[in-house]
Amino acid sequence: MQIPEGFMLGAASSAWQTEGWHGKKAGQDSYLDDWFKHEYFVWHEGKGPDVATDFMTRYSEDVALMKEIGLSHYRTSINWSRFFTDYENLVVDEDYADHVNNVINALISANVEPMIAIEHYEVPQFLIDKYDGWNSKRVVDLFVGYAKILFERYGDRVHQWFTFNEPIVPQTRIHLDGLRYPHDLNPKKWMQCNYNKVLATALTVQAFRSSSQSGRIGIIHNWEFAYPRATNNQLDVLAAKRFDLLYNRVFTDPLIKGDYSPELIKLLSDNHILFNSTDEELALIKANTIDVIGLNLYFPKRVKTPEHQWDPSAPFNPRKYYSDFELPGRKMNNSRGWEIYPPMMYDMAKVMRDDYNNFPWFISENGMGTENERRFKNSSGQIQDDYRINFISEHLWWLLKAVHEGANCEGYMLWAFTDNVSPMNAFKNRYGLVEIDLEDNLARHLKKSGLWYHELIETKQLNYSTRFAYRSQA
Ligand code: BG6
Repeated sequence: MQIPEGFMLGAASSAWQTEGWHGKKAGQDSYLDDWFKHEYFVWHEGKGPDVATDFMTRYSEDVALMKEIGLSHYRTSINWSRFFTDYENLVVDEDYADHVNNVINALISANVEPMIAIEHYEVPQFLIDKYDGWNSKRVVDLFVGYAKILFERYGDRVHQWFTFNEPIVPQTRIHLDGLRYPHDLNPKKWMQCNYNKVLATALTVQAFRSSSQSGRIGIIHNWEFAYPRATNNQLDVLAAKRFDLLYNRVFTDPLIKGDYSPELIKLLSDNHILFNSTDEELALIKANTIDVIGLNLYFPKRVKTPEHQWDPSAPFNPRKYYSDFELPGRKMNNSRGWEIYPPMMYDMAKVMRDDYNNFPWFISENGMGTENERRFKNSSGQIQDDYRINFISEHLWWLLKAVHEGANCEGYMLWAFTDNVSPMNAFKNRYGLVEIDLEDNLARHLKKSGLWYHELIETKQLNYSTRFAYRSQA
């Protein structure tokens, strides 16, 4: 299948998952750093952001490999917690700012366009301790101040900005599900943080447009594609719809359309978790919608009508409205516990076409994390990750089919360029086109998929013929 000219074929990562703490100054902890320090025992083999892939000192090697593969784009983030020595007076850490500058210049010289997320969970712990983090509108203002400095310093060379990567995730894990440190279960706070990040995005979009810089600005959202168990069962369909409102449209409606849907507002009011907002803020959100959206899409979410009655005294959780449905015979990525369902790419394109007026979008993350990947090394030590090549091919096949039918999807970014540190899973599941060898001083080695991706980019031809092949390629 032909890949259209100009279709982005890149890869992604983030600052905190690669950098490591080399050169980090006292007081520059992010939320992730603080969590790692408090609950190091929940991180696989005690590995975490402290070393990561040591991108701080080894970024030139990585950029050289990006050039070798021929990535058109590389998305990473700037680490807010390291960018300042004083978060309130916006005193820039010039050492870190220089590093960012060098990385951007290196990417451009390698002909790889940088795409930058302003936050990929790297909220400074100081702002959590002092203001309760994203629950606070003071933090919204400080974020916008931070973003303005980025536009001034790097906007001459970075033309694609994203306010957040997966803005819903940290507060969902902390305040809604209570899974992550500090396990502060508080659904009202969950929704307030969601809203404050929408507001922060609108204010940042406004700031970007009034700056002298060219380019575009959007957000990266982890769309959780909800499939009802049975489309002819109204209760299952309703379960999927409510899931979609609470996890997806809570961001995408205000950011793309400028308004929250009345159905979502009613759902939030009925459950006493409606966010605090002012008319002025809502007008600002309406007037400053984003230019583009990146969607992180890994696995389908299958739901059915709830199996059990909800306890009205329990803290609110969207599970009030659905139960998980496990599709018998589903194909799994057992390392991660995620179902593999490539046609989701095509279904996503239909949603963007029908519900968002063919708004510009791209796949900002998709990929396959595999445990104990060393077992796939050949005699010359190269990881033969055919499962990853198949995974990418299958997903790309469905995406390109949609593109050929008119979807406004601009590209595909693989997660991830190199293996890197995941929240808690650390280096357990390897995602990269490039191996990070923990047993050999973090040496970088191209995997078979790295060579394959290079060829894909060179030839712009996806040699993959059938949409059903994925069933037989476990
Ligand atoms: C996305 C995140 O959710 O998925 C990344 O943007 C993350 O930060 C990636 O690493 C893969 O998920 P996980 O949990 O396996 O790391």
